[in-house]
Amino acid sequence: MQKRKLSFELTIFAGLAELSKEDQTLMSKAVAARKNAYAPYSNFQVGAAVFMENGKTIIGSNQENASYPSGLCAERVAVFQAGALYPGIPIKTVAITATSRNHVVDSPAAPCGNCRQAILEYETKQQKPIRLLLMGETGKVLQCNSIADILPLGFDSSFL
Ligand code: THU
Repeated sequence: MQKRKLSFELTIFAGLAELSKEDQTLMSKAVAARKNAYAPYSNFQVGAAVFMENGKTIIGSNQENASYPSGLCAERVAVFQAGALYPGIPIKTVAITATSRNHVVDSPAAPCGNCRQAILEYETKQQKPIRLLLMGETGKVLQCNSIADILPLGFDSSFL
């Protein structure tokens, strides 16, 4: 028998001001995207901004539905749109931020399991890591160097 401990590098920035200018710009686009969230059921608005290797930024926000499972998270709206607009262009970074009408979101919003799986597909396809920047509406910003880091033992096309 063997036991392994898996670990990954998480960078914690005290706030937006600690980010590079490029990352601040990307996160500000995610913040702006939040305003277009359609979240009448959860009152939780998420914005995502995808920065691509061709220099383009694609935004998304969560889009809910009266039939709850038919809605889609901000990250998948943005990443699918990026794939639809620029197939074959690698994604460098996905910035994600959340706010709520019910409370102050002061800790970074992490992508749900379905979004991790969806983003892993693109990371596997492009064979280059997708970096994540995660923020609430205020406070710390977390950086993960790869989506695989936060989806250990993930399922990808190599199993098929
Ligand atoms: N949501 C996202 O957009 N991204 C996530 O990773 C977590 C959750 C959305 C889905 C739903 O519209 C609302 O937040 C509450 O779950």
